[in-house]
Amino acid sequence: MKEEFNPDKMIKVSNERYRQWYHIQTPGGWLNDPNGLCYFKGYYHVFYQFHPYSAEWGPMHWGHVRSKDLVHWEQLPIALTPGAPEDKGGCFSGSAIIKDNRLYLFYTGHNYYDDNDLDHFWENQNMAYSDDGIIFHKYAGNPIIKTPADNTQHFRDPKVWEHNGCYYMVVGSQDKENKLGRILMYKSTDLEHWESCGPIIQSHNRDAEGWMWECPDLFTLGSADVLLCSPMGMKSQPEQFMNLSQVCYSVGHLDYQQHCFDGSKFRELDHGHNFYATQTMLTPDNRRIFFGWLSPFNEKMAEQADGWAGSLTLPRELVLEDGQLKNRPVKELAQLRQTGGTKKHLTLNGEAQVSIKDAQHAEYLFDFDGGNLTDFQWSISDQRGLLIKINCQGAKVTLYRRGTQDQYRYATLTAPAKNVHIFVDTSSVECFINDGTASFTERYYATGKVTAAIAAKGVTLDEQAYVLGKGEE
Ligand code: FRU
Repeated sequence: MKEEFNPDKMIKVSNERYRQWYHIQTPGGWLNDPNGLCYFKGYYHVFYQFHPYSAEWGPMHWGHVRSKDLVHWEQLPIALTPGAPEDKGGCFSGSAIIKDNRLYLFYTGHNYYDDNDLDHFWENQNMAYSDDGIIFHKYAGNPIIKTPADNTQHFRDPKVWEHNGCYYMVVGSQDKENKLGRILMYKSTDLEHWESCGPIIQSHNRDAEGWMWECPDLFTLGSADVLLCSPMGMKSQPEQFMNLSQVCYSVGHLDYQQHCFDGSKFRELDHGHNFYATQTMLTPDNRRIFFGWLSPFNEKMAEQADGWAGSLTLPRELVLEDGQLKNRPVKELAQLRQTGGTKKHLTLNGEAQVSIKDAQHAEYLFDFDGGNLTDFQWSISDQRGLLIKINCQGAKVTLYRRGTQDQYRYATLTAPAKNVHIFVDTSSVECFINDGTASFTERYYATGKVTAAIAAKGVTLDEQAYVLGKGEE
């Protein structure tokens, strides 16, 4: 393949029915992981795994958007196109770092052997750079890191950060001997030459912890270090880890001398059906924020018939409280609010419609009056009936999504629900309970008009609903 992007071959969106209003999506074509999150010369930059020629996964490019405020996004030219000797099969996921006024991207070169077998490949780590944040050049010395001898072919998704004047990189990997997931760490003083620090943590068991850990991320939050990664192959447990793969986190300590990460057992970051491959960054005011991919896993997405596929989650802030990682929509999203927002104080016995002009592009906030919340429910429906329902019963939260199977997801809170915060876009719902103690991320596909309702038995609450606008430049 020649390393050239052909705009004439780009697939076009043929129907707007499921297009998101304020989530990052492609202009046409397939999207998966968020990549290269950074703040450079006055803009937030977000890149994404992109196949511009069809609404299916294919040779990966890096799509690119930027924003001044995390809310209004501008599409930029494709940043990375596969086809160099080290990335013939795709420019896979990776990260960004700024050094001396230059934006550096680190990405995985994915390469197939000549045997027509998509499961037979090699992977290495590569670098690219840009001085204007728009046009990127691949580094002439690529690859900067080759697959180590004790690794299988799974060796991808470099995340780079700076610590005490040195650069560190974590890479998702699988060890050759046990075929288990692990994270390799590397160290550099100049971003070009990297020395191996070996595995810093690894899976002990395929079913419990997975056989390959994708998209690792490691950062300090408050007084602890947090590891985020996306293990493949973990077995579902009752009411937990129910997706094909999930984003897990561990809170602990990274020992930079001994090169090991010691942390708590994996927990899920989000409990919804569609959440994967997160990446974090620090904002200029030191908030740790992330985006994820609203992943369908093995399901078809309805918008694939319309020439596009997939979107990122909203930007969300991570906070660590009582050893638990919480995630909340960033405060900048309030800029999307157009109308509504009047606070209604209600005592609810039974069901009530939420009166809002456009229930499908809306933000909902519910606050409960202390005490033990016994039973509260929020739902949206279309002309065929119920689409999504969230039910809080004491500390137990159950989410229902319309479908023929696998409709339910669960979370258990440490205390009964005090507040529920929901963002609905054309084809997604993100729900945050108790200031992000639990979250659910969902795609949905509506036919006809969407309406929202709440139901409760003798519950007193404050309700606010805003109509939201578009997040395009
Ligand atoms: C995660 C992932 C990454 C890889 C990329 C390829 O969804 O499989 O591990 O780099 O997607 O598109």
